[in-house]
Amino acid sequence: MSGNLSPIDTAKFVAAKRAVDFVEDGMRVGLGTGSTAAWMVRCLGERVREEGLRITGVPTSSRTAELARKVGVKVVSLDEAKWLDLTIDGADEIDPNLNLIKGGGGALLQEKIVATASDQMVVISDASKLVEGLGAFPLPVEVVPFGWQTTKALVEETLAGIDVLGQSATLRLNGDAAYVTDEGNYILDLHLQRIGNPRQASLVLNQIPGVVENGLFIDICDVVVIGHGDGRVEVRDINAGTRQEDRIEFADTDNLFRDLAD
Ligand code: A5P
Repeated sequence: MSGNLSPIDTAKFVAAKRAVDFVEDGMRVGLGTGSTAAWMVRCLGERVREEGLRITGVPTSSRTAELARKVGVKVVSLDEAKWLDLTIDGADEIDPNLNLIKGGGGALLQEKIVATASDQMVVISDASKLVEGLGAFPLPVEVVPFGWQTTKALVEETLAGIDVLGQSATLRLNGDAAYVTDEGNYILDLHLQRIGNPRQASLVLNQIPGVVENGLFIDICDVVVIGHGDGRVEVRDINAGTRQEDRIEFADTDNLFRDLAD
């Protein structure tokens, strides 16, 4: 990758670059999935190469595992790492309490397991993901393939009884076939428009047989790092109740970008 970054890529990159400051030598780090998390993995790789940072990464998808290895980040399974110091991941929506919708990239199950097994979760994003209330982004729900149409019908029936606006679910596709997750499951995208009570929605959905997990991350995220196209970053810590602003200076002729050319 070379040349000028678009404002959206700049926003994702500066959020990622700022977030890897949270990573210290010797840490076990959960590595998220998606385009923003990919920047974070590249930034971590740069710190490994340039500072000799020693970290162990636990990827949340096969895509992330491949990228981490490529940029020189050591990768182990969650069972080998057991518990993590920190997870850094992207999100599809972030509400003012730092509750999230995740899973737009189809990796919500591993992402939720890994984030929950971490002392701290840092979410990185551009400002477009900040919302007053969750639900405009379709909520991904991972379901087992066996009887998925029955599960879909049960999900839609359940939605009629909870505080959401829309009630339809669609099977996520990859071309003409069902999209298959790293665990061999399917994804239903729920078109809810507004989720009045995300905690209730998450609990109720997970009680349906056939549902493996949903993309609502409630009380899991501790810090968000929001990047902007002009290089500004905002760091919000929900536990400390703090907000800080920073600016990340970089040149997109850096090694970090040149290394991505192949
Ligand atoms: C992957 O399953 C998702 O949870 C991603 O973290 C989320 O969709 C954000 O992806 P982008 O960083 O590509 O927007």
